[in-house]
Parts: sequence; structure tokens; C-alpha cells
Amino acid sequence: MKKTYALVLAAGKGTRMKTELPKCAFPILKKPMIAYIVEKLERSAIDETVVVVGHKKEVLKDILKDRVTYVEQTEMLGTGHAALQAEAVLADKEGVTLILPGDMPLMPVKLTNKILQAHETMGNDLTVVSMTFNNPKSYGRIVRDKYGMVSAIVEDKDCSDEQKHIKEVNSGVYVVNNKILFKILKQIKLNDRKGEYYITDMIALMKHDYKVGAFGVYDAHLMMGVNDLYSVSVAERYLRDEINKGHMLSGVQMVAPNTITIGHNVIIEPGVTIMPNTTITGLSTVREGSVIGPNTEIHNGNIDEYCQVKHSLIYDSIVGAHTTVGPFAHLRNGANIGDHNRVGNFVEVKNSTTGSGTKAAHLSYIGDSEVGSRVNFGCGSITVNYDGVNKHKTKIGNDVFVGCNVNMVAPLEIGDEVFIAAGSTVTENVPKGSLTIERGQQINKDAYFNNLIKPKAKK
Ligand code: UD1
Ligand code: CA
Repeated sequence: MKKTYALVLAAGKGTRMKTELPKCAFPILKKPMIAYIVEKLERSAIDETVVVVGHKKEVLKDILKDRVTYVEQTEMLGTGHAALQAEAVLADKEGVTLILPGDMPLMPVKLTNKILQAHETMGNDLTVVSMTFNNPKSYGRIVRDKYGMVSAIVEDKDCSDEQKHIKEVNSGVYVVNNKILFKILKQIKLNDRKGEYYITDMIALMKHDYKVGAFGVYDAHLMMGVNDLYSVSVAERYLRDEINKGHMLSGVQMVAPNTITIGHNVIIEPGVTIMPNTTITGLSTVREGSVIGPNTEIHNGNIDEYCQVKHSLIYDSIVGAHTTVGPFAHLRNGANIGDHNRVGNFVEVKNSTTGSGTKAAHLSYIGDSEVGSRVNFGCGSITVNYDGVNKHKTKIGNDVFVGCNVNMVAPLEIGDEVFIAAGSTVTENVPKGSLTIERGQQINKDAYFNNLIKPKAKK
């Protein structure tokens, strides 16, 4: 049966990136480039995806698992050589192959389908996807003959002075009929300057005997190749704008959206306001009426309705409805804050739950704790959860008043309706309804200044 295949070239090192990670695994808004590509191919008209891996292949395989078929390029001998490695899996298959680089994360599903459709409609044997850039530097130029037909692709470094002015460039995406593809790839000669086989040479090799055409893409940025850390930032900017626009059109207000980064899987309900310098990523949800930011980072956070989160960090945590967080609070590692809570200035909560209406307004640490409802943590009160070797749990009941600067040394259980006097270091369980005081007796020494300090100062 005639099928549509995708062949992703992702074996290269990405020398221009100057990073440890192989280029195609490099994250754009915290998601590897190659994951964008494969996800979109899965949602397109492509039936099967083959990925050419090579440099640090384990890293890519770890990202894509068994979602694709792998072929290996053991020596990095260029894009033509990379594509040829798929001969064993694709040559006998009836159909067409969409060849694309693994460094082009922005190409939308719709456009992929449009390209495949255009190839079919034009009745081409090879379709190259081109776009026009005012600054075409670093891209291969599309050379056309006097009839306007595509006759060759010349790499930037191989261009004559005249060719350097050509603004129509090669996107690196091609659709080729399978039967012809591998026959032509084998005819490509080594480029002496670079010591590589260029896939782009297919055009000149096919122009006489086959039907070769170009499909121009108007939104050139959708086809940008990411080659260095500057282009990473450009791709992130486009992606950020696109995501933010989607949220704004569905009723999320964003103040200074160019400073706001929202990840792909984040759900934000209409009626939410996001303030400047805010990043929300991972599997995060923000429910209606909440105001997030400014200067806030949330990763895997669930923020219920009508919350306020200012100048704060929230990782892997849940915030109940009508709760205020910050300024300068830090929730992490499974903090599960109840509704109508206040997690205030310089308060850190880790791996702890709180009931409804609990407040820690200033300078507290709550770790490995189970806290009830309507508990008030005085300024500077903390759970002492770590004995230098192990972490221990603190359990605090409902309606507890913890005075300022209290240390609650875990393991510890504090019953309901307990008062703990300011400055106490509590090491033993406190029963329901009691007041606990643990501190030295205050001693006031009369006339201390006049009798002791003043006479000495006179000498
Ligand atoms: C390539 C095109 C250029 C085009 C540009 C578009 C060639 C010779 N040039 O240049 O005309 O304008 O893309 O972005 O094709 N790869 C391998 N094995 C290799 C070499 C590369 O798998 O031996 C993979 C890379 O991992 C990468 C892709 O092929 O994902 C493209 O390689 P890259 O070096 O980025 O090509 P460009 O120089 O950008
Ligand atoms: Ca590239």
C-alpha cells in the first residue's frame, strides 16, 4: 500500500551550538527539539517516522523511546549520507518520504500536510520547500534557471558573490518519491570543501530526468533551523508568542506578555491574570480569577481559583482556592496548601499539607508536616525536620496557635487547640487544648546600667 513516511535527520553533533547535548535533543522552552518534531509528525498525515541517529544516540532514543523507527549513521558524512542510512527500511516501500532536519521545531502540523498535498498536486518526483529571508546567511540558496525552474541548491559557503544575494533559501525539507530517493542519494558526490555528502545535490541530479519543484512557505520563521544558542532564543521567542496569544485570545490577561513564558501543557482558565516576568511550565494548572506574578516561577503547580501568587517559586505543589502566596515564598516537593491559606513573606513549605484557613505570614519553614485547619504560624516559627541524618514528621492539629520563633523538633505531634508560647523549642508531644511554654525564666536586674555600666564608663 502507498504510504507516507517521514525521515528525520538527527545524527549530527550540532557543532555550532557549543553545548554538551546533541543539538536535536536541546530543549526549546524546556522540551527537546526532536520531541516537537516527532509529536507534530504523529499528528500529521505521516504514517511512519524514521529517525537517523548517530552522535550521542542514546540521548535521542531516551526521549523518543519506541515511537519511531531508528536507523544509525556511524560517521557524520553529511545530510545526503544520513538520509541514505534509511535505505534498508524505506527503499522497498511504496509511497513518498518527507525528509526533514531534526533542528526545525516550529513547522506546524497543518503546514506539513499542506507540503505533502502540494507534492501530490504538482505531480512532482521531488519537492523542495523554500522560503525567503531578507538575511539568508547560513542557508542554502535556491538557484533557478532562466525559466524560473529550480536547478540547484548551493550552500552558503559555496555560493558565488552573485548567488549570495539570492533570498530564496532551502528549508531543508523535501518530499521525494521513495522509488527514486535512494537511487539518487547514491549518486551524490563528496563535497570536497566540507568532506560531506550534501542531500541538496539531489536537485541538480534530478532536474533533467525528473519533475522537480519548489513549494514556497510564506511564514519563513516557521521553517527556521536552530543551529546555535542565539537561534534557540529566537525559536523560543516565536513559540512563547504563539502560546501566549492562544491564552490571551481565550480570556487570560497578560501584562507585558513578552516577559511571560508559558509551557505547552499548561492549562490556564479564562479570567486569570498573569503579571510580568512569570514562567509557568510542566504540568501546571491555574484556575479562574487567580493572579500570578509578577516575578513568579511555577513548575508542575496547581493553583486553584482566586489565588494570588507574587514574587514566588512553586514547584511540584498544589495551592488551594482563595490562598495568597508571597511575596517571596517557596513551595516545593509536594507542598499541598489548603484553601484560604496565607503563605507569606519568606516562607518555605516542603512536602507538607495544610488544612483550610492556615496562615504562615512571615519567615517560616514548614517541612514534612501535616498541618490542620486554622493554624497560625507566628513569625520565624519553624519545623525542625532534620536531625543531621534523617528527616522526621511533624503533625499539627486544628486551631493551633504557634508563637513567634518557635522550634518544633520532629518527630512531633501537636494536638488540636494548642497554644505554643513564643520562643519555645518543643521536643515533646503537646496534648489537645493545652498551652506549652518552653524557655528560660526572664530575669530583670534592677538599676544595672547605673550600678555597673555608668561607673565603668567614667574611668
Ligand atoms: C542544511 C542544508 C541547507 C538548508 C538548511 C536549512 C545541507 C547540506 N544543507 O544546512 O541547504 O538551508 O539545512 O536549515 O543539507 N545531520 C545528520 N548527519 C550528518 C549531518 C547532519 O544527521 O552527517 C542532521 C543534523 O543533525 C541536522 C540536519 O541533518 O538535524 C541538518 O544538518 P545541519 O548541519 O543543521 O545543516 P545546515 O548547515 O543547517
Ligand atoms: Ca540546520
